[in-house]
Amino acid sequence: MDRARKNARSELAVSRSVAELRGVLNRWRAEGDSIALVPTMGGLHEGHLALVRAARTQFSRVVATIFVNPMQFDDPVDLGRYPSDIGRDTAMLSQAGADLLFLPAAGEMYPPGFATAVKVSGLTACLCGAARRGHFDGVSTVVAKLLCQAAPDAAFFGEKDYQQLLVVRRTVRDLDIPVRIEGVTTVREADGLALSSRNFNLSREERAAAPALYRVLSEVAQALAPGGPAQAALEEGRESLMRAGFARVDYFELRDGETLTSLERARPPARLFAAAWLGATRLIDNIPVA
Ligand code: PAF
Repeated sequence: MDRARKNARSELAVSRSVAELRGVLNRWRAEGDSIALVPTMGGLHEGHLALVRAARTQFSRVVATIFVNPMQFDDPVDLGRYPSDIGRDTAMLSQAGADLLFLPAAGEMYPPGFATAVKVSGLTACLCGAARRGHFDGVSTVVAKLLCQAAPDAAFFGEKDYQQLLVVRRTVRDLDIPVRIEGVTTVREADGLALSSRNFNLSREERAAAPALYRVLSEVAQALAPGGPAQAALEEGRESLMRAGFARVDYFELRDGETLTSLERARPPARLFAAAWLGATRLIDNIPVA
């Protein structure tokens, strides 16, 4: 590790308990700081760092969290495969301008006797909610907890997980949690692949096939933009993904970008959503239909 990276890593303070986190944040608030939260599960990449940097431009303190939330995984194999390298993640957060890392253990987030869940209905019935049972209950519960623990002025989420962003906005509205939710545009590789911690799991061949997800979404979005019937273009999108090497398509759908209602024709704010498997890795992406 070079000297700059070493220094950067040692500058990032780490809180492991809610009490410790609140102690630091109360001190900062008393000093007049504004506070942004960037929740993550680690396995960091430029997409996460874009959230930290966006937060940095608007708030004087940026708190990142890393917690691989077991409650949002419906598959223990998927949970076990989730990439984790705290040393690397800490150095990256520090270099991107985070001030503090909240790194709770599972027992801190879900102590014995934990029995509460936040369940958002409607928005969670489709797309990833249909394919991954209980996933969004886990997301809204852990995000509600993190927001209560840190009480930030704003929290930042990527648009790559667009349904998650809508579920978080709904949670905050419905529970009157006083925080602004900021969505940040998806960061992509040069070939269009949306950055994701799951990309680390792709083999060379799978990585070569992966950009087809964004390419096909873009082609179908263009075909749908004039507002004609969507069904045939969506079916062609699914077939194109299979031809490009995807093993299975969980969904390839046109929906309203605010309510997630299914659309038969594009009209603002229409959005295309896709989830598909390359080997054992499930990739998701979404784009607006202009
Ligand atoms: O997007 C993620 O990484 C997670 O779903 C989140 C928001 C950190 C909750 O665990």
